[in-house]
Amino acid sequence: MHIVMVGTGYVGLVTGTCLADSGNDVTCVDIDAGKIERLRRGEIPIYEPGLTELVTHNVRAGRLQFTTDPATVVPQADCVFIAVGTPQSDSGAADLSGLWKVADTIAPLLSTKTIVVIKSTVPVGTNRAVAKRLKELTGRQVDVASNPEFLKEGCAIDDFTKPDRVVVGVERPEVADVLHDLYRPFLRTEHPFLAMGLESAEMTKYVANCLLATKISFINEMANLCERVGANINEVRRGIGHDQRIGFSFLFPGVGYGGSCFPKDIRALIHVAEQHQLEPQILNAVDNVNNAQKHVLFHKVRQHFRGELTGRTFAIWGLAFKPRTDDIREAPALTLIESLLNAGAKLHVHDPIAMDNVRQIHRDKLKYCAKMYDALEGADALLIVTEWSEFRNPNFELMRQLLRQPVIFDGRNLWEPTLMRQLGFEYSGIGL
Ligand SMILES: NC(=O)c1ccc[n+]([C@@H]2O[C@H](COP(=O)([O-])OP(=O)(O)OC[C@H]3O[C@@H](n4cnc5c(N)ncnc54)[C@H](O)[C@@H]3O)[C@@H](O)[C@H]2O)c1
Repeated sequence: MHIVMVGTGYVGLVTGTCLADSGNDVTCVDIDAGKIERLRRGEIPIYEPGLTELVTHNVRAGRLQFTTDPATVVPQADCVFIAVGTPQSDSGAADLSGLWKVADTIAPLLSTKTIVVIKSTVPVGTNRAVAKRLKELTGRQVDVASNPEFLKEGCAIDDFTKPDRVVVGVERPEVADVLHDLYRPFLRTEHPFLAMGLESAEMTKYVANCLLATKISFINEMANLCERVGANINEVRRGIGHDQRIGFSFLFPGVGYGGSCFPKDIRALIHVAEQHQLEPQILNAVDNVNNAQKHVLFHKVRQHFRGELTGRTFAIWGLAFKPRTDDIREAPALTLIESLLNAGAKLHVHDPIAMDNVRQIHRDKLKYCAKMYDALEGADALLIVTEWSEFRNPNFELMRQLLRQPVIFDGRNLWEPTLMRQLGFEYSGIGL
């Protein structure tokens, strides 16, 4: 198939590349000329494990191209995917301006056979509204399908190529058949292709993210309570996780969820509920708990140092909102950095991948350490914010020597508290 992917970000670039890898002819389009130029030079603008090799392979094979000009490729397309960003607007609703711009741009270029597939996460009703707009602009009915994406940054290629399920929302079964053919190479292990109505597909994406975020806020609240009552959340987690109705996934306490999806998707669904005169009490609580949780490490640090943070130096390991990505959108590390800087602290930060993105925000207000141990030199404490795997088995002896005080605030519960105390650290985790 001839595929055009409009929006070449974390989702568009991965989706476009994987669809090229399964034999389709794919052109990724973006308004960011710098990004397209870099991709044409073979540079990948984001960090995603395995993506560089896959992009290079498919470009060399002639199946993957990049352009800023949709007019050169949309007329030949069987499917035009829209994967532009839908960030949070001031009201909390999803900002759909990018999506509408794409709809207006592609409308005069669409052939009669083209299916428009909306991959961006969009509030319920958007697919139908886009179809209406395209009808007004083209004078005919254009097939619009919803195809929400469930990939996770950090294992995006695996998630896309081996999805738990593929969800499409369609008006006509024939459209689902075309998309089923497109996805067939990724569904060989009998994972389901679920065709449903447009509104159900749109809601599926939000409901999935909101339930996952709910699990995180729930376990964080329980962790905070465990700390107060002398229980250990790790023991409690094991105690509940073996119950098959509960399970272990997404029940790791920490410093709150971040990223480009959970925070904005929760708020977008809150907005949708309110528009329909429904008070989303659980969603509001999930959002509030998470906002508070992002301050948990700062409160612990302030309490430990009796409010005297001015002039102190802290080391921070982990800036990305989660491991295996360079994405820092709504990252808990940003909240922590801001609080510590406002309190007059000096910060040595390290992240294996995301440092350049933070540098663009904080410039020379932070000391950026290319090596994780360098951040510890002269620091009054180490704060762990992202659970990169290279942090899991460090040289504790070296850490103790480098730190000015052997104090660790672990926002991801990487290590066993008893062991850490035996090693001579004052160690504080979340809910331990
Ligand atoms: N990042 C994720 O893990 C993830 C997972 C599932 C779903 N989603 C959803 O997918 C969508 C895209 O997310 P993302 O993280 O890839 O965003 P992103 O910000 O990384 O990428 C969006 C891209 O769209 C481009 N763009 C914006 N307007 C455009 C236009 N008019 N024409 C062409 N290109 C345009 C931008 O320049 C950018 O490169 C969002 O709706 C998001 O909620 C994201």
